[in-house]
Amino acid sequence: MKNLFDIKGYVVVITGGTGVLGRCIAKYLAANGAKVAVLGRKEDVGQRIVDDISKDGGVAKFYKTDVMSTDIVKQNCADILRDFGRIDTLLNAAGGNMKGATIGPDQNFFDLDPAQFQTVLNLNLTGTVIPTQVFLKPMVEQGKGSIINFSSMAAFRPMTRVCGYAAAKAGISNFTAYMAHETAKKFGETIRVNAIAPGFFITEQNRALLTNPDGSYTQRGQDVIRQTPFGRMGRPEELCGTIHYLMSDASAFVTGTVAVVDGGFNIYAM
Ligand SMILES: NC(=O)c1ccc[n+]([C@@H]2O[C@H](COP(=O)([O-])OP(=O)(O)OC[C@H]3O[C@@H](n4cnc5c(N)ncnc54)[C@H](O)[C@@H]3O)[C@@H](O)[C@H]2O)c1
Repeated sequence: MKNLFDIKGYVVVITGGTGVLGRCIAKYLAANGAKVAVLGRKEDVGQRIVDDISKDGGVAKFYKTDVMSTDIVKQNCADILRDFGRIDTLLNAAGGNMKGATIGPDQNFFDLDPAQFQTVLNLNLTGTVIPTQVFLKPMVEQGKGSIINFSSMAAFRPMTRVCGYAAAKAGISNFTAYMAHETAKKFGETIRVNAIAPGFFITEQNRALLTNPDGSYTQRGQDVIRQTPFGRMGRPEELCGTIHYLMSDASAFVTGTVAVVDGGFNIYAM
């Protein structure tokens, strides 16, 4: 009987592939036989990641990108099709919160800079819409493909201080449902769009909010732990199984869902 989780030879595009979560997922997928296109802004970091994957016998290539630029993403797509011939999966992992769009503990809403609000909204939301539009095209032409967006706990219930990030992630959950319907109706059931909503994982975009320079948790970090039934932050590798499931035929009847991976954070009010 067919192994529903077989992803050998799948060509996977990961935006934000140089980030903490993206690179962990890239390494896992390559170790399971996928060919990985790592998209990021930092060439040196990206090159190190693909070199590591190659050393371990995997297939990966780095492409410099900016998910806010349709022209650059279109060029990435052409380059990936030239190198790998097809695109099976898109992981929209570029994004995160931004310092300038974060309201300080002693500030209030009047201190929010609308320009920074717009930047964080654009990076997360428009930075998901643009790659989706570009990479969906070859999937439609092939007649098969799967897109996985990165939502957040902030999408379900807003969080203090990060209203731009939360609005963007709520938009991503909504966009995921919209695209699932759009692709199923217009291009058939073999094109699927889902999202993953990670709980709290210490990465570059949230390190300063959740940890102090000495590595101890901030008040906010401690609040997260208290709110999480597992009593700890997530480990990046704990996202890999859900990603694997959502991109493989194991989830052939699953579209438009937001898969929560959070140690129970979201089921618990107080
Ligand atoms: N870490 C968490 O707890 C958590 C929780 C929920 C959702 N997420 C989401 O997971 C995704 C991955 O983030 P992470 O936590 O690994 O953070 P990270 O900061 O380590 O990685 C984010 C990546 O996005 C890239 N990026 C930023 N702007 C870009 C642009 N214009 N074009 C291309 N790439 C760009 C960065 O260079 C970086 O590689 C993000 O969408 C984030 O919002 C993270």
